[in-house]
Amino acid sequence: MPKNVLTLTDQRTDKTYEAPVDEHGTIRAMDLRKIKTDPEDFGLMTYDPAFMNTASCKSNITFIDGDKGILRYRGYDIETLAEHCTYLQVAYLLLNGELPTPQQDKDWTWEITHHTMLHETTKHFIDGFRYDAHPMGILVSTLAALSTVYPEAKNVHDPESRQKQIVRLIAKMATLAAYSYRHRRGHPYVYPDNDLSYTENFLNMLWKMTEPKYMASPVIARALDVLFILHADHEQNCSSTTMRVVGSSQADPYLSMAGAASALSGPLHGGANEEVLRMLDEIVSVKNIPAYIKRVKAGELKLMGFGHRVYKNYDPRARIIKSVADEVFEVTGRNTRLDIALELERIALADDYFVTRKLYPNVDFYSGIIYQAMGFQPEMFTVLFAIPRAAGWLAQWNEMIQDPEQKIARPRQIYTGVGQRKIPTTQDEKSAVKVG
Ligand code: ACO
Repeated sequence: MPKNVLTLTDQRTDKTYEAPVDEHGTIRAMDLRKIKTDPEDFGLMTYDPAFMNTASCKSNITFIDGDKGILRYRGYDIETLAEHCTYLQVAYLLLNGELPTPQQDKDWTWEITHHTMLHETTKHFIDGFRYDAHPMGILVSTLAALSTVYPEAKNVHDPESRQKQIVRLIAKMATLAAYSYRHRRGHPYVYPDNDLSYTENFLNMLWKMTEPKYMASPVIARALDVLFILHADHEQNCSSTTMRVVGSSQADPYLSMAGAASALSGPLHGGANEEVLRMLDEIVSVKNIPAYIKRVKAGELKLMGFGHRVYKNYDPRARIIKSVADEVFEVTGRNTRLDIALELERIALADDYFVTRKLYPNVDFYSGIIYQAMGFQPEMFTVLFAIPRAAGWLAQWNEMIQDPEQKIARPRQIYTGVGQRKIPTTQDEKSAVKVG
């Protein structure tokens, strides 16, 4: 009868140990600690830089099968959610585990809509940034600043307080994002319009000028809503892990989210969409692609928007984005960069370098092209990613806070520095000179 146990023999001591293997195919890292060479030994540890093979939590929010290209939120395929739901319904699903009933949907939408305004002092805070400040820097800093506006948010073990901050954060992300953009443009801030849906209102706060009421194109508003659904969560990615790690110290969710948004801003994570656009601009024309690919294969550059730690197959979000692009271009006209992107993808997917490394387009490869067609500048792309990812960050944070197995996150290290030493005294120095 097979046992769900891993047997390990330590050849240093000839001792044999057993570690239970659970139903998820994992062993507890702490079970290795009992493997010692002598009683003074600290015990065996694993060394796993970048967490390549370490599960840091149990989660029932998002499922990814990277080999098959599957992404599900709470059991629903991303394709189904993108087709049938709104971003706010998906945010509710991520946070509560179930899609809202019609009444819950109404109440949730009302709640979010009525928390979109920022405290006036927060507006002044945004005013203080340089005229050309990167909107992601403004977003990160202002998220942290909200911690001072809502000091009760530090009661992270109070479910009512948590819920209040979740609503505020999801609602205010769109406003913060829009204001970070308006500041850069030198345009006055636009107050939220409660008649509008989440994405319509976001577009209103971005683009409204002197007209009495701003009405977004329904196609653009829906396309943005679908993009928001695709970006809402992605299990233990770099920024969600940051949210959990910062939150594990019981810092409030505004500060934790400032940390998560900082992680997202990097070019290897959410910042990649901005880099893809720069790359396509650098390539200029389809005829320059083979030379560019040559440089990538020589290790001079990375093909931005390609590759993923988890997906070793086509990113399902990239596939949906491609179809959204067609709808958007019918309204905005075709973005010429699409031709370069499609050809780049075609050439890369037929090239042995990319095939053997299983490098496929990720969510960032096409999103920037659509954002640009919608009228956004590259600096705004990562901010557009951050708005919906707030739902995922908060769902992950809420789950972490309530998980009895979680504690303050604190990995181990392997110390490789010098051993104990003393600062030389004047006497030591004198004798060293004598000896020399
Ligand atoms: N272009 C060229 N080569 C690449 C790329 C790329 N975009 N991505 C990975 N590779 C190569 C690596 O050089 C490496 O080759 P080697 O085995 O010869 O050394 C191999 O593929 C494996 O790559 P790793 O860097 O080990 O993969 P890792 O899982 O650590 O990195 C990452 C994943 C960071 C996403 C990487 O693929 C990358 O930098 N991509 C470009 C940036 C990007 O698009 N980021 C967005 C990711 S999606 C998101 O965060 C929303």
